[in-house]
Amino acid sequence: MPLDYPADPVHPLAAVTHAAPYDYYRRLAEGPSLRFDARLDGWLATGAAGVRAVLDHPACRVRPPELAVPHKLAGTPCGAIFAELVRMNEGERHAVPKQVLAHALGQVDLARLQARTLDLAQAQLPGSATRLNDAIFELPLFVVADLLGFAPAQWPALAAWTRDFVACLSPLSNGAQLAGAQAAAEALLQRFSVLLREGHALPGSLLHDVVAGARQAGWQASNGVLANLVGLLSQTCDATAGLLGNAIVALCAQPELSTQLSAAPELWPAMLREVGRHDPSIHNTRRYTAEDVEFNGVRVPAGQMIVVVLASACHDACEHAKPVAPGFGHGCHVCPGQSIAHTIATACLQAWADALERLPLAWTYLPSLNARIPVFAPGAGA
Ligand code: HEM
Repeated sequence: MPLDYPADPVHPLAAVTHAAPYDYYRRLAEGPSLRFDARLDGWLATGAAGVRAVLDHPACRVRPPELAVPHKLAGTPCGAIFAELVRMNEGERHAVPKQVLAHALGQVDLARLQARTLDLAQAQLPGSATRLNDAIFELPLFVVADLLGFAPAQWPALAAWTRDFVACLSPLSNGAQLAGAQAAAEALLQRFSVLLREGHALPGSLLHDVVAGARQAGWQASNGVLANLVGLLSQTCDATAGLLGNAIVALCAQPELSTQLSAAPELWPAMLREVGRHDPSIHNTRRYTAEDVEFNGVRVPAGQMIVVVLASACHDACEHAKPVAPGFGHGCHVCPGQSIAHTIATACLQAWADALERLPLAWTYLPSLNARIPVFAPGAGA
């Protein structure tokens, strides 16, 4: 083993930003699908079978029982959004809003989205590593803000607030980041209410479709609609930046890929799917047991945390023949934005491919317990 070979991650949360975590994930997938991890003081669900069993189980909830909103966010603008997000709710507060959001996202014309993203990405070619670090976050957020019906002059502020807001969702954030998240939450809520109130919701825009769908489905909580509109930006943010960034890492690490893709650009969507499977952006999610549950003879008591290691399911040898990888989740909380994310990432990479070839890059990863997002720096030869 070479001296600089990185040691195994100490646990799945450390694997997220580890330089080479995938042998470790493969070994997790080969082990028991459910086990207790004393270092995390919680359970691990691993491999395709473990991940599916937990995500399908009705007693495995997205929030701990009795704690709908984390203590540090209670009574704050971030807490008000958090409490309404479909991602953070079950049952009635999840089902109808989820159906409305998924339906509206399903109405998006992907061919138009692809063309629009190509235009916007071509106008923002990343000429340096620093610019690239901003662009992998900004482009997807600009495109979703555009879909929602915001004017271009508003996109940079919306993207900056979204990046500040998502800090409230990470246990790693410090006091200053949490304060920034609160200011951003207020600003985002205000911008969305203005867009709604002033009737600027363009027919055919995502905002229009969500509001019309909510009315039709009898989803009347206007705070809930507003919060989930913000949620569309926040769900796009880290996950799509990670997909884009990890695809760029693949292009740097395997230069022959760029040659193949420039000869056959129709292979870009397949390339992105492979990145989503082999080097996914979201490595884990969490569930909490609302009652005692049993999986294949293993009993997990009520009130326990389960880290659902999605990345180990992506690297489960038994799953490789299957066309769909679990990086977008599974079960009733499965991501409704998958086609949109893939379309945006494909178009950005197509637009940037030539510029990226001229940009030698090195990378590390942003600190995170669940999202793998590269931070680029000038590489050898730059
Ligand atoms: C590469 C990009 C993306 C990845 C890897 C991703 C991944 C995920 C995953 C794993 C979940 C489920 C979390 C869980 O069950 O605990 C999820 C949920 C969600 N995602 Fe995505 N996502 C991406 C992009 C997007 C985009 C672009 C949108 C919207 C425009 C979006 C909207 C949502 C929403 C609303 C949920 C909550 C669904 C629910 O709780 O029922 N995502 N995403």
